[in-house]
Amino acid sequence: MTDNDGTTSSDGTDPVIVADDLQLTFHHGKQETKALDHVSFRVERGTTLALVGQSGSGKSTTARTILGIQKPDAGRAIVCGSDVHDLSQRELRLLRQKMQVVLQDPFGQLNRRHTVGRIIEGALIAFNRGSRRERRERVAELIRAVGLDESYLGRNPRELSGGQCQRVAIARALALQPELVVLDEAVSALDVSVRAQILNMLVQLQKDFGLTYLFITHDLAVARYMAHDIAVMHRGRIVEHSDRDTLFANPKDPYTQGLIASIPVGLPRGAAVRAEFDRRLELQLEDG
Ligand SMILES: Nc1ncnc2c1ncn2[C@@H]1O[C@H](COP(=O)(O)OP(=O)(O)O)[C@@H](O)[C@H]1O
Ligand SMILES: [Mg+2]
Repeated sequence: MTDNDGTTSSDGTDPVIVADDLQLTFHHGKQETKALDHVSFRVERGTTLALVGQSGSGKSTTARTILGIQKPDAGRAIVCGSDVHDLSQRELRLLRQKMQVVLQDPFGQLNRRHTVGRIIEGALIAFNRGSRRERRERVAELIRAVGLDESYLGRNPRELSGGQCQRVAIARALALQPELVVLDEAVSALDVSVRAQILNMLVQLQKDFGLTYLFITHDLAVARYMAHDIAVMHRGRIVEHSDRDTLFANPKDPYTQGLIASIPVGLPRGAAVRAEFDRRLELQLEDG
């Protein structure tokens, strides 16, 4: 393992994601949007990096660039040691097994013409995994892993609640035993109590399967619950990036300070706010 090309950590383990100076400008007529402005970060195996920022700050563009869907103008996106924009179509397809995505829209991301069982099995079929019987067993395991029972396998997504759809999307994402799961506003469309249940489940799945998460949210409160590290994005730039506790205890960037201050927990500020915030979030999470 080399230690000088920016893709290896000081402790010798390879980070799952290295974003290295990503740049991307969109052109709409004469107008230019710098969606990615020198974006760099890394995510270590088994950890969660939350990418936080308001709508339009470049979070989804970052995700799509990491997933190999959007090509940057400059910079590199390295996932599991491979530069995703320097792979053949075939190599990228193989790498896709290791990086999966869960999106915001519970209903939109599931094929309504298929049953839940077929949706989850689809990933296994696409990569020719196992015999039919082995696939069925795996699908049964997966549906249980996301807290639903096997009676759901014959159902149609139309018959499910938003939270149940997100569980199915997560089961599908886990089917190929990925290293990385990119969650782009994956709980944002859910009610608070359902959201708490799904977040708890994601934390447990991460522990059970050693998953690495790139967790995208506009909600700093959710980031605080989920993430080991938090990167704050604003207008295509990462304005602040640190471990979760440091970010909340000592936010350096005025934009981050503003975000923290706007977490709706009522006043007062500072330590009291954080204590109150933690108490409310715990209550929410226990409710769920
Ligand atoms: N395919 C695209 N074509 C043109 N502009 C885009 C495209 N995708 C995103 N943008 C613009 O890039 C900026 C960042 O968008 P996005 O990454 O979706 O932000 P976020 O996910 O944080 O809401 C926005 O100004 C958005 O309008
Ligand atoms: Mg987005």
